[in-house]
Amino acid sequence: MTKKHVKPSLQEIVEAEGHLIDSHIMEQIFDTVVEYHGRFEVEHFHIGKTNADPSRLRLRVEAPTGDELERMIGALLGLGCTPVDGSDAEFRVVDRDRCAPEDFYSTTNHRTLVRRGGEWHVVENQRMDAIIVWAGDKPWARRLRDLKAGDEIVVGMRGIRVIPESKERDRLAFAFMSNGISSERQVETAVRQTAALVRHAQENGQKVVVVAGPVVVHTGGAKSLASLIRKGCVQALLAGNALGVHDAEAAMIGTSLGVRLSDGRQEEHGHRNHMRAINLIYHAGSVAQAVQQGRLKKGILYECVTHNVPFVLAGSLRDDGPLPDTITDMNDAQEAYVQHLRTAGLVLCLGSMLHSIAVGNMLPSWVKTVCVDINPAVATKLSDRGTGQALGVVTDVGMFLELLDKSLSEVKS
Ligand SMILES: NC(=O)c1ccc[n+]([C@@H]2O[C@H](COP(=O)([O-])OP(=O)(O)OC[C@H]3O[C@@H](n4cnc5c(N)ncnc54)[C@H](O)[C@@H]3O)[C@@H](O)[C@H]2O)c1
Repeated sequence: MTKKHVKPSLQEIVEAEGHLIDSHIMEQIFDTVVEYHGRFEVEHFHIGKTNADPSRLRLRVEAPTGDELERMIGALLGLGCTPVDGSDAEFRVVDRDRCAPEDFYSTTNHRTLVRRGGEWHVVENQRMDAIIVWAGDKPWARRLRDLKAGDEIVVGMRGIRVIPESKERDRLAFAFMSNGISSERQVETAVRQTAALVRHAQENGQKVVVVAGPVVVHTGGAKSLASLIRKGCVQALLAGNALGVHDAEAAMIGTSLGVRLSDGRQEEHGHRNHMRAINLIYHAGSVAQAVQQGRLKKGILYECVTHNVPFVLAGSLRDDGPLPDTITDMNDAQEAYVQHLRTAGLVLCLGSMLHSIAVGNMLPSWVKTVCVDINPAVATKLSDRGTGQALGVVTDVGMFLELLDKSLSEVKS
């Protein structure tokens, strides 16, 4: 199918609605226009009168060239500005698997609607960096690698509406966490707020998904995470091979990377302990079989198996073994993560830069996410890569988990 030749327009009127002022979206809209060498004129602005009321903006934007205007509109779309031209989205048919037309629309992680037949349709399976495919009377966010010849996809920037998440007021309480290592008092506040988010998810029947790195075991946090799983606070665990390896090592041998968890001392020849743990799981056949055979009697994965909490161990280039349960095909591992994240209400990312950012890429922006890491750059990175909803807590993950477990053990007054 050939692309329709449309004479570039140098002006456009766009509209946005939402918490434009307190979410700092308004200033981003103005900055974006200037960034594309454009000019703006506010035609109408209605400020929300209460903290719940949305504000409404109607803006005339101009750019020196049609190309810059198109790129500006693309950037403004991500901030919730929709051109008021009333046109449907443009669809084009894919002619080869995995190959989209050059001007395909690439999604953000925000709720997105597509206009077709004059009606707005909400995109299903929203995630960032996806392509919108029309299938079964609905638009779907789909990865490039899943495109098939014959798929009808959205191209260009017309007939698309993006609704950015507005900043929540309780988020401010977390803001100080991203600026450095938090004081004990601040960590306690973050723990209390995370516990409240877990309780809220539980009360509303939402899934809490934990994403964890091996540092959870190295810092002695495995006991607390196991306790949280036992309490029913975790509905799925997403991790890499290392978490499984070191959890099994800690549970079966009492060390983590050869360091005794009881007194923090390096065990003689302890460097082989994680390999011994992998070997023991191989003898059993899998983690679940190791539990059934009574070889694995405690720990994070033990609690997952005994409490029917699904876990996914994704492979990486760094892996030893890997454990028989580790998914070494990266596309399959991503898909297994996505399946659990699709129904998540709250995601807790604990001490893994790789897995936290990977999960951020798969989540829509309305899923609450807490990221705990000793390095402030991790929460910042997650946010910079589009997971703006992530609340950063800069602290030791072992201590955080211990406090969280304690907080969730307390009876609510
Ligand atoms: N033996 C193995 O098989 C093996 C060993 C290590 C890693 N891996 C694999 O490599 C990949 C990357 O591993 P990763 O996720 O651990 O690495 P990563 O570098 O992505 O993340 C580690 C994170 O832990 C944080 N951290 C360090 N100490 C902390 C503390 N006390 N409290 C809170 N945060 C702390 C760091 O700042 C960092 O962000 C994973 O897939 C993992 O399974 C495999």
